[in-house]
Amino acid sequence: MSIGNSQQFVVGNWKMNGRTSDVRKLKGALEGQRSIYRGVVCPPFTLLRDMKEAISEDVALGAQDCSSVEEGAHTGDIAATQLQEIGVQYVILGHSERRKDHNESSEIIALKIQKALEALLTPIVCVGESEAVYENGGTLTFLQEQVRAFLPGLAEAKTRGLPFLIAYEPLWAIGTGRQPRLDEIAAIHRALFEMTGLEALYGGSVKQENYKGILAQECVGGVLVGGESLKPDRFSAMLRGE
Ligand code: PGA
Repeated sequence: MSIGNSQQFVVGNWKMNGRTSDVRKLKGALEGQRSIYRGVVCPPFTLLRDMKEAISEDVALGAQDCSSVEEGAHTGDIAATQLQEIGVQYVILGHSERRKDHNESSEIIALKIQKALEALLTPIVCVGESEAVYENGGTLTFLQEQVRAFLPGLAEAKTRGLPFLIAYEPLWAIGTGRQPRLDEIAAIHRALFEMTGLEALYGGSVKQENYKGILAQECVGGVLVGGESLKPDRFSAMLRGE
């Protein structure tokens, strides 16, 4: 169990937002500050290099996806090795928006995890149920299925001593201002810990006002922050633990 400890992650997911001017604003907000959490920021591909220059030493760089194959004739895709070459350390995989917008199956996500691990990127693998599943009480069964698909990748990471992160993001909580109750978050994260041995990050409408309550829950390894990570003052304050 981790309560407000410096091993917990605060990960910002910019999604398809941001310009170079926004990177400069975040740089200004991070200037001279020390993060008490393990900060990671995941901008769109076009801003990765600028972001690498902008972030302080204690914040790491992440991408939002990588290809399921090595290299070659795959127009529009980015290989894990290409990300690694420019200093990317983390990669979000299997986000619900990619599962939906790009029909990403669990099999494809498992291949992406494989490529990320080969390039020594730390995958942040997202799982989460729809509102209908949640309402029917099917959350844990659903998560078990999503987890099962990446257990081989997780086992490989463990064998090789590589870090591996998972994030629980209920679809109905993403960008909606709604969230499971704290006791539900704790119960789901405990179940995910039993399935994987990992303390999952929680994502879905995480704000400066509510993140500490979430980080205080059992088996929560951090937070994955969408909209709020686009506000430099708020995101930098969260990294400082404020
Ligand atoms: P949100 O997004 O914080 O805007 O709800 C979280 C996510 O999808 O990673």
